Amino acid sequence: DASDLLRGALLQISESDTVRSAVVAAPVSRAVVNRYVAGEEVDEAVATTARLRTTNRLVTIDHLGEDVTDRAQAERTRDTYVTLLDALAEDDLARFGAAEVSVKLSAVGQSIPGDGDAVALENARAVCEAAERVGTTVTLDMEDHTTTDRTLETLRALRQDFPWVGAVLQTYLHRTESDCRDLAHEGSRVRLCKGAYKEPESVAFQDGEDVDLSYVRCLKVLMAGEGYPMVATHDPRLVEIARALAGHHGRSPDSYEFQMLLGVRDLEQKRIADRGHQMRVYVPFGDDWYGYLVRRLAERPANIRFFLRSLASN
Ligand code: FDA
Repeated sequence: DASDLLRGALLQISESDTVRSAVVAAPVSRAVVNRYVAGEEVDEAVATTARLRTTNRLVTIDHLGEDVTDRAQAERTRDTYVTLLDALAEDDLARFGAAEVSVKLSAVGQSIPGDGDAVALENARAVCEAAERVGTTVTLDMEDHTTTDRTLETLRALRQDFPWVGAVLQTYLHRTESDCRDLAHEGSRVRLCKGAYKEPESVAFQDGEDVDLSYVRCLKVLMAGEGYPMVATHDPRLVEIARALAGHHGRSPDSYEFQMLLGVRDLEQKRIADRGHQMRVYVPFGDDWYGYLVRRLAERPANIRFFLRSLASN
């Protein structure tokens, strides 16, 4: 429908450098960024985490950045994660996984031509070591479909030493129900989301309703399985279905969790936590917020209209 088209168009034009410069410079960007991003520095991410913990919400922190092709930049990102994990531990926020981290492999080297996978694996391993040291976990974000196989391969390699590493699967991809079957085993942590990139018809459902139906099929597989499902959606129908399926399979509240993004449905996040469910908030921080912001805008037609109007009046 119209909103699926608008979403596709926004993700497409966002790839232009001219559009990128206009958006980064626009004052309106700052207001929208502040809604979805904790700040630029490690201490701001830690402060946001502490605030969310006061309402009993769990946290996963993402250092913004993607498609890094410079080795030194990838290593700086790795080091920032290590600093962040130590800072969380210092404020006693990491223990028992209360706050964990989310890592995009393309931010730690996957996109470097040639040996990108090896670089990403080595950097991700260092992040996992730091996480293990402070008693928490790491989850690999999932990026566009050209990286899915390589990301799952890196997941397998990391899990040999760190069996608690989790990954994201995206229900807009045709392949995902089968990936869920592969990853529904004991000890496996899967964050299930709809998917946020512009993907071709050959690999992904284009219609929102089909993505939702795929989400339900994947939920059935994960909830019936032995793993730890992480239900990452703001869609009230899917939250309800996940709750019903967990009940149907006799799952206890600590055997799965709900997850939402910072700045999206904040009241509902608190309500779900108050009802005794585990609710984890995805908290991004850092100065490279452009790609993340565009994907958040694309999710909501009202956001796009507001944003384009403000840009035009500048
Ligand atoms: P949908 O987009 O249908 O939204 C349902 C309702 O939620 C909307 O009607 C609206 O009320 C509200 N809503 C949703 N988005 C909003 C927004 N931006 N602003 C305001 N309201 C909004 N994707 C990916 O490709 N790779 C990944 O690794 C991850 N990781 C990830 C982690 C976590 C914890 C979450 C919650 C999401 C992701 N995503 C992701 C993003 C995901 O794929 C998806 O794009 C968004 O979650 C939006 O989809 P919903 O399931 O919320 O449904």
